[in-house]
Amino acid sequence: MTSQTAKVVLSLDAHAVDSLKDGVNFKKNPEDSKCYIIYKSEEGLRACKNQCKHQGGLFIKDIEDLDGKTVKCTKHNWKLNVSTMKYVNPPDSFMQDELEVEALEGGGLQLLELDPEDPWLEDPRETLELQPGEVQVTYLTHACMELQLGSCRFLFDPWLQGPAFAQGWWLLHEPPADWSDRLCGADLVYISHMHSDHLSYPTLKVLSERRPDMPIYVGDTSRPVFWYLERSEVKLTNINVVPFGTWQNVDEHLRYMILMDGVHPEMDTCIIVQYKGHMILNTVDCTSDFAGGASGFPMTFYGGKYTDSWKAQFVKNERKKLLNYKASLVKSLQPKVYCPFAGYFVEAHPSDRYIKETNTKNSAADLNALINKQAPEIKTWTPQPGAVLDLGLALRDPSDSRAVRAPPADTKVLKDNWDFGLYVNEQNSAIGADIFTYPEWIQFYYTWAGFDNYNLVVRVIETDDNFQPFPNGFDYLVDFSDLTFPAERPDREHSYLELKNRVGVMRWVVLNGISRDPDIYHHKYFFLKFMQFLYLKSLVALG
Ligand code: FES
Repeated sequence: MTSQTAKVVLSLDAHAVDSLKDGVNFKKNPEDSKCYIIYKSEEGLRACKNQCKHQGGLFIKDIEDLDGKTVKCTKHNWKLNVSTMKYVNPPDSFMQDELEVEALEGGGLQLLELDPEDPWLEDPRETLELQPGEVQVTYLTHACMELQLGSCRFLFDPWLQGPAFAQGWWLLHEPPADWSDRLCGADLVYISHMHSDHLSYPTLKVLSERRPDMPIYVGDTSRPVFWYLERSEVKLTNINVVPFGTWQNVDEHLRYMILMDGVHPEMDTCIIVQYKGHMILNTVDCTSDFAGGASGFPMTFYGGKYTDSWKAQFVKNERKKLLNYKASLVKSLQPKVYCPFAGYFVEAHPSDRYIKETNTKNSAADLNALINKQAPEIKTWTPQPGAVLDLGLALRDPSDSRAVRAPPADTKVLKDNWDFGLYVNEQNSAIGADIFTYPEWIQFYYTWAGFDNYNLVVRVIETDDNFQPFPNGFDYLVDFSDLTFPAERPDREHSYLELKNRVGVMRWVVLNGISRDPDIYHHKYFFLKFMQFLYLKSLVALG
């Protein structure tokens, strides 16, 4: 059993408590400058950290909220109703974690954060010295690492061929030539989450043809990692769903534990692997990747404030913030060795040239340089495909140059060609599907998507790859207040977007959809937006 600890994060004296006003109060702890929100009503007090569940942004008062119950995130405008601790934008989505409010004698109070004991501290193992060559970590591509741990080979998140996110992301690095043998010869595979740069069906197809019974381990997320397995026609017969926070023994010296993400517990996970008492933490996407950029938007926004110079500044700021965040996180964790990964992708398809050129990213070397400056005691590794970290050597003497083995001299590091035709043609085959001869598909599709009761009108224009209107493509309005499809914008005041959607990807998504059984995408418009921005690389105009 794990025990729970309570930490006091903020104390207020009687005078400060008396001066709390009805509604939302913002408070800062003068000792560590951390911020909190206290909501006061006739029913009492509720409190939470002033930290957005999305990406940790800071909340401020929401001036559009006349009831004084809602706060708005300064980063991407999510809204939280602090009287219920429910996020109201995106609607029907997350709950904010609450703090305990404890009244003190004399009229003061304190806010308590309840923390269960870290599960990986349970059942500790003796730390034994590693021999050179006993634990070797080989970088393959993006988030795919191979761990040789004694006699066992463990492989993480194999994305080794094909694109991710429809045709949006392609591998930056050329995987080692023997990637298929390494994948199919592994003893076990961990897949962190459902995103296609981690769960890659083109890669798993190769695996299923040679080794359909490969033991694959995933976390017990409420949105199943393999939600698309049946439709993908990839046959894998040994997928194991593992409970969170419990050691899974592989052999006498090796065990692993899958943990849920704090921000997206419904779908994201990370893993700790322990061998002879040494821990390797693979955070995957749980603390965001290092590359940053604009995550696909707003590079494709246009109109209003979204000029090229605004976007350039936005991306620059975001990258800098991310770099500092990652460096401070690594510094606080104090690992012996750190390696940035899971950010090695490129928008390589010619139709995405504008995004590739403008959505600049941090390099792993930039991050490691910052860590070296702030925490020189941590050994950093900037991996190249096929390079190997020998943990036994690195732990004995971090300055030992033999601890990292470079890939063979003739190794091609960066990819310079991708099989666009093979994958993009499949998507474009959706354009001529029968249903698109009937305009009724529009009503059917948006009714299925399930987002309504929102004062928003969207004009959707089907385009070619260059965002020019597609010949005989659809160009229609959707009024999300009552899910109607008017010929003109309504007279009432409303928010308005124009989306230029590439016809091939749009129709492919409409045809293939996203699984609704079980109904895993109840985030409604968040789903719709995510799909439109990230998958379709839509052009968005605000007016
Ligand atoms: S961090 Fe709050 S909305 Fe993104």
